[in-house]
Formats: sequence, C-alpha cells, structure tokens
Amino acid sequence: MEKYKVASLFAGIGGICLGFKQAGFETVWANEIDDAACKTYRHNFGDSYLVQGDIRKIAAASIPDFDVLAAGFPCQPFSIAGKQRGFQDRRGNLFFEIARIIDEKRPRVVFLENVPNLLNHDDGKTFLVVGTTLLQFGYYVKYALLPANEYGNVPQTRNRIYIAAFRDLEDCDRFSFPKPVELTVKVSDIVDIHKSSMRYTITQKTMRCIKPLSVS
Ligand SMILES: C[S@@+](CC[C@H](N)C(=O)[O-])C[C@H]1O[C@@H](n2cnc3c(N)ncnc32)[C@H](O)[C@@H]1O
Repeated sequence: MEKYKVASLFAGIGGICLGFKQAGFETVWANEIDDAACKTYRHNFGDSYLVQGDIRKIAAASIPDFDVLAAGFPCQPFSIAGKQRGFQDRRGNLFFEIARIIDEKRPRVVFLENVPNLLNHDDGKTFLVVGTTLLQFGYYVKYALLPANEYGNVPQTRNRIYIAAFRDLEDCDRFSFPKPVELTVKVSDIVDIHKSSMRYTITQKTMRCIKPLSVS
C-alpha cells in the first residue's frame, strides 16, 4: 500500500519525522537551517531528501507533492522561558512561512507543534492568528495540550500544544488525539546519572517555568 507523504518544516533532528515514520508515513522532503541539527538528521534518516537552508528562501513550488505538512515551528518567541515577543520576533514570523506553503500546496493535513504558551501568548491573540489563518484557508482544526511523557513512553516533562488541521471535513471527523500510554521508562534507563555532566542539569530558573499541565 502506498504510504501517505509528509513534508517536514523546521525538521530539527527529526523528532516529528520519527513519529510519522513509526505511524507508517513516509517523509519525502524536510527542511532545516541549523548545521548541527542537519548533521544529526542525516545521521538518523540518511541523506536523500533533507534540504538545508532558510525556509524563507525556498519556493513552495520546489517542494515535491505531499499529503501532510508537519511543522514544529520555533517556539522561543512564545515560550514563557523566553522574551515572548511572538510575531514581532523574527522567529515568530516563521509561522507565516508555513502559511505561505499551505496556501500554495493545499496539503490534505497540517500538523503543528509548539509550546503550551502559544495559547495564552498576547492574551490569546497569537493563537487566534494561527487558528484564523488555518480557517481562512478552509481547514477544519482540532488541537490539544498534551504532556509528551504520557504518549511516547519517554520520561521527560515536555508539555506541548498539537494542532491538526484538515482540508476535508470527513478527515477531521475521523481524527481523534491518541489515548495516553503507560510510562514505564525511567531517566536512569537512558542516562547514566552518575556519569553525566552537571552541564546538562536544569537550572532553578528554567525549573520555575516547568509546570504540570491539565489536559484539555
Ligand atoms: C522547535 S525546533 C523543531 C524541532 C523538531 N520538531 C525536532 O523534532 O527536532 C525549530 C527548528 O527550526 C529551525 N529553524 C529556525 N529558523 C529556521 C529557518 N529560517 N529556516 C529553516 N529552519 C529554521 C531551528 O534550527 C530548529 O531546529
């Protein structure tokens, strides 16, 4: 059976691509600007389709056809750990690069990931811009705030907002966010805590930004 095709923006080291791969999708194109991230991405997924460079300089027409556009777009402009400049920040503006590609390619599904504060930033106006942009393109939108450690059996506090937008109402109606899975892996199963450097220990300042999350 032919696999659904994914184009991945802001691909980083490929966390979202890995999730789609594990769910049976095929990433056919990915973009990332950062050298070190690209090196890791190629190590993880091979060298065949990652395009390294600034998304602002990439024409939508140069992207091969795909079904799903995935984007964990830069979150620092919206994070409570950052200065919260939102769309005023050069990195916040990158959301409009996603909009540009949706407008031209009209994918069947758009999947976005960001920090939970995307919802509250600028009294909700930022999220309104994201939602309205998708609605104006004719997409049907669902979103959820989910703690990643309840879904991937990964012992890390990583609360995120996930937005799934569908070109067709039937796809939207069929979709529901997954049910939690039991967390059985511990940090000590992955990292040798006694050997790891203090460099990787979280600071008190960052710790204050990490809050438990109630799932909607
Ligand atoms: C929040 S991270 C995404 C992480 C990714 N979801 C993963 O699983 O690794 C955002 C990524 O956007 C990249 N980025 C920032 N500005 C960019 C630009 N102008 N063009 C392409 N990528 C960019 C950053 O280098 C960073 O890796």
